[in-house]
Amino acid sequence: MSEKYQKRILCIGAGYVGGPTMVMIANKCPRYKVTVVDIDKGKIEKWNSDALPIYEPGLDKLVKVARGKNLFFSTDIEKGIRSADIIFVSVNTPTKTFGAGAGMAADLQYWERTARQILECADSSKIIVEKSTLPVKTAQAMERILTAEKTDVHFEVLSNPEFLSEGTAVADLEHPDRVLVGSRLTESGIKARDELVNLYAHWVPQEKIITSDIWSSELSKLVSNAFLAQRISSINAISALCEKTDSDVANVAKAVGFDNRIGAKFLNASVGFGGSCFKKDILNLVYICQHYGLDSVADYWQSVIHINEYQKERFVLNMLNTMFNTLAGKRICLYGFAFKADTGDTRESPAIYVARRLMEEQAQVIITDPKALENAKQDLAGLKGDVEYIDDPYEAASSSHAIAIVTEWEIYRTLDYERVFRSMIKPAFVFDGRNIVDHQKLYEIGFNVHPIGKPAMTHLR
Ligand code: NAD
Ligand code: UGA
Repeated sequence: MSEKYQKRILCIGAGYVGGPTMVMIANKCPRYKVTVVDIDKGKIEKWNSDALPIYEPGLDKLVKVARGKNLFFSTDIEKGIRSADIIFVSVNTPTKTFGAGAGMAADLQYWERTARQILECADSSKIIVEKSTLPVKTAQAMERILTAEKTDVHFEVLSNPEFLSEGTAVADLEHPDRVLVGSRLTESGIKARDELVNLYAHWVPQEKIITSDIWSSELSKLVSNAFLAQRISSINAISALCEKTDSDVANVAKAVGFDNRIGAKFLNASVGFGGSCFKKDILNLVYICQHYGLDSVADYWQSVIHINEYQKERFVLNMLNTMFNTLAGKRICLYGFAFKADTGDTRESPAIYVARRLMEEQAQVIITDPKALENAKQDLAGLKGDVEYIDDPYEAASSSHAIAIVTEWEIYRTLDYERVFRSMIKPAFVFDGRNIVDHQKLYEIGFNVHPIGKPAMTHLR
């Protein structure tokens, strides 16, 4: 080991998790050398530039502090593997699109390729850390690949799932609710676990670093996401009932969430949850349950996805019914395309579904978003229909029949809606898929306002 650094950390996969996580480790552990590698040359170039490949508030400052000192981005994966003491694997694990388990199981091809590459290149013992979200028992497969050839080199596999949310990744990494480290309960497993615990102990309070057996750790990650998504589907299911009964879903969520046992977070009714993980991880959980013959358990979790699909379609049908049962030729402006605020990520964004369905209804779709327009263009490329992308929200809404708020960006709360109203075709509609604007105020301006899970406010007789 060089004298300059105490430990050498490698992360394979420079995406939404690998990038920010390693940036935080480099900032908090200045004596560790942290290298992040990826097969995507363009992405690595961006990590080495001022235009980072992902938008995450506060991240650019942290990159500037450590890059070139103890934080390095590179495409030389082999060299990285050879010189590392600890290797985090943070490659993507999307839903499989082919063969057995298509549409449900995790596609582990990137993962397995990484394991084989580690085996091929490593000439000394290493700790391998599963950072990606993986099906329970993946560590066993990893161990089998890594011990396929009998050598003196020992690989200890740990599970260390990541719980950060996009848009708040920096704060989540700096002050995590918990850090979870799963290991084999053997002597070498516990030794490796302690090394990883020591790394996090540089900034995370000891009581927030929890350890467990490796299988529970892997499963806890899938279950955490399933529970979070379940809360959203629960409140979204209730939002449909609220609309039928003149109740207000925000009041219901507040009253329910005041119970300490339930808690107030993650009870915002919406057009539906998106993001690269909730759907993928629940489908994976469902697939695992089916594999073990637990069909009732699988059905229970599948219903969380079902309600989410239902909620997105309900949002579109509400627009169709409200706007006199035809959207053909009407200009509909989507406020927001990212799957949530403060990110440019559009993976599984409900906006993709809404835009596609509106195009099927032959509406003219205008899309605006502060950070996600480039991704939106890629998501909708190849779809038949009329779609425009406009940066300025005022210009985007001008001459539209309706605005659909799909992402809860702060700027949409504070626009000059009198100006927006004046520029629109009348009657003007707002469908608030995030319940973020002042509904009463917009109604008074002249809009017909259709929130989620609250009575509509309409000037139409
Ligand atoms: P991502 O697609 O943003 O990044 C993955 C990166 O891995 C890509 O840049 C890809 O080029 C690279 N890669 C793939 N195969 C490779 C290989 N063989 N060698 C080197 N690089 C390779 O994905 P992500 O959002 O960062 O997610 C990564 C994992 O973390 C997934 O399992 C995901 O479920 C999990 N996770 C994601 C989040 C999130 O908020 N995005 C949060 C927690 C956990
Ligand atoms: C989620 C989890 O929150 C993270 O803990 C986890 O690490 C991550 O998945 C992962 O494994 O990838 P993320 O998808 O980045 O994080 O973002 P969330 O804040 O969870 O939002 C997910 C979706 O739910 C968004 O579309 C958001 O708008 C929606 N949402 C969230 C609601 O509709 N209502 C809510 O009350 C909360």
